[in-house]
Amino acid sequence: MQKVIAKGVSLGMYIITANGGGKANGMTACWATQVSFSPLLMMVSIGPDKYTNELIKKSGYFAINVLSEGQTNEARHFGFQSGRTVDKMKDYAYTNAPQGSPILEIAMAYCECKLKDVFPAGDHELFVGEVVNAKLLKDITPLPFVWGEYF
Ligand SMILES: Cc1cc2nc3c(=O)[nH]c(=O)nc-3n(C[C@H](O)[C@H](O)[C@H](O)COP(=O)(O)O)c2cc1C
Repeated sequence: MQKVIAKGVSLGMYIITANGGGKANGMTACWATQVSFSPLLMMVSIGPDKYTNELIKKSGYFAINVLSEGQTNEARHFGFQSGRTVDKMKDYAYTNAPQGSPILEIAMAYCECKLKDVFPAGDHELFVGEVVNAKLLKDITPLPFVWGEYF
């Protein structure tokens, strides 16, 4: 069943960032999508063991940084190590969005969200946030998630 879903359901690639208690971090995610027009709500599914999960709950905000074509090394950098043990932001320039969420210079677009709800969903948690800031930084092609390229 998982193989059918992996082939048939299109996903993008994002770095979810948060700044909790003065600690900035980012993690790769492909399970992110818009879920409402009004209010404008985004959803990201994050495992409970992820450091980013903890930081978003601390800060009450998160940013979705959109990756573009070719940025697979960046996806690996933020997706195969944890901010608990490595400073993943060290070599990546970023600024802070108005509510403090890190915006990576490598992102083609971002939206900063105010956390509204966290719902349990199997072995993950769904973070639903209202978009409070958003910007298209480079009008280029986003990076699609392709199964087999990472796992
Ligand atoms: C291509 C790719 C997609 C991923 N998508 C997700 C996702 O949607 N949700 C999630 O919880 N983890 C996802 N991960 C795993 C996290 O990025 C990874 O566990 C990361 O090390 C967590 O970092 P943190 O502990 O600093 O938050 C993905 C990893 C990769 C490589």
